Amino acid sequence: MKISVIGQGYVGLTISAFAGKHFNVLGFDNNSALVAHLNSGKSHIEGVESSTLQELIKNGRYRASSIPSDLADSNIVVIAVPTPLDNQRKPDLSYLDAACKAVGEYVESPALVINESTSFPGTLRNFIKPSIESYSKSQINHLYAISPERVDPGRRDFNQENTPRLFAGLTPEASRKTKEFYSKFCHELVEVSSPEVAEAAKLFENTFRQVNIALVNEFAQITNALGISVYEALDAADTKPYGFMKFNPGAGVGGHCIPVDPIYLASAAEEHGAPATFIRRANEVNLKMAEYIVRRVAADNGGKLDGKNVLVVGVAYKPNIADVRETAAELVIDHLRSQGAVVSWHDDVVGIWKGESSVPLQGADITVVVTKHDSVDMNGILASAPYVFDTTGKVKGAKGL
Ligand SMILES: NC(=O)c1ccc[n+]([C@@H]2O[C@H](COP(=O)([O-])OP(=O)(O)OC[C@H]3O[C@@H](n4cnc5c(N)ncnc54)[C@H](O)[C@@H]3O)[C@@H](O)[C@H]2O)c1
Repeated sequence: MKISVIGQGYVGLTISAFAGKHFNVLGFDNNSALVAHLNSGKSHIEGVESSTLQELIKNGRYRASSIPSDLADSNIVVIAVPTPLDNQRKPDLSYLDAACKAVGEYVESPALVINESTSFPGTLRNFIKPSIESYSKSQINHLYAISPERVDPGRRDFNQENTPRLFAGLTPEASRKTKEFYSKFCHELVEVSSPEVAEAAKLFENTFRQVNIALVNEFAQITNALGISVYEALDAADTKPYGFMKFNPGAGVGGHCIPVDPIYLASAAEEHGAPATFIRRANEVNLKMAEYIVRRVAADNGGKLDGKNVLVVGVAYKPNIADVRETAAELVIDHLRSQGAVVSWHDDVVGIWKGESSVPLQGADITVVVTKHDSVDMNGILASAPYVFDTTGKVKGAKGL
């Protein structure tokens, strides 16, 4: 069996590494520098060890390519490309369309096409299938299925094997073959009645997080106004053994999923005349957190940040990974700079970002902690400036939410 995985990022490389234990995998990515990097046995993703990749390459189980004709003869094609927002913050399916073009033009015998990219209900049926068919030179009856990815990069307790996986095919045969494929490396497969249910469930999972994070971010502002510790109040609520799930406040939400997926759901809702006011409001609250934090920092520092050297600690969107997509640190830095602060940042996990480099953890007037990697020394943070504002709740002794 030849499995081609289109997109070798967080999702695609992770699935390639697991599938490579059982199948021959072609990792297709249009970034040729990344392809060369992968073929030299180097992983760029937390959770996929370079040694795993080297072993697969040595055994002839994995090869990366950016040549679309290499997709020919695939038995299964897994699509794992970005589904971001466009510059009007609307769903952008252009990467998905490009992936469909490659499949349509080069996969010339019937294959099972599985989409793992996150998108709104109806994407498999009304976008991917017609798009692939429109790019095919002849009429080929591919099978189509969806299995939305749930990987949480950097997480060690849940992985491809022990995270239950949703799936649904457009036909019973597609469902059966999808189950056969994933059951080689995933212990629990949950079939749902249609691709649309799987697509909707995936969006709702991340919308649930977005909304609850917004709620706790609003709660942090309320408790501060009331002179109560948000962390103590949350810990107290968390002693209830049922009906409560603890979320932590912070500088906002980041990554490719939580700020983006709810907008896919809201857009689909609005297109069908259903309100998505709650989802839209949650997004606004989270986006406004950066401004709120900078206001708090300014208020504690005589109301002015003009000319102050401010060090932002942690620009990745979450601890222990280098992913900076949609990171809340960007908004925090923008707001600090708009107040005249001279901003640098410390994040040795990220290293270089937007043409700037991580600076040492020292010598600032003000330090604002946005993300705390495990490798960053707590005492080092406290010693880096006379005033430290922590948005993570992890730096004991600092000011905070
Ligand atoms: N990162 C996550 O934690 C996560 C979790 C669940 C679901 N998802 C979803 O999975 C999908 C992929 O996300 P990701 O985080 O892996 O993205 P990513 O940016 O890490 O990787 C995507 C890869 O696809 C490649 N690519 C783009 N267009 C291509 C094309 N036409 N042909 C070949 N390669 C192409 C890019 O070069 C990149 O290497 C998205 O829909 C995302 O929402 C992501």
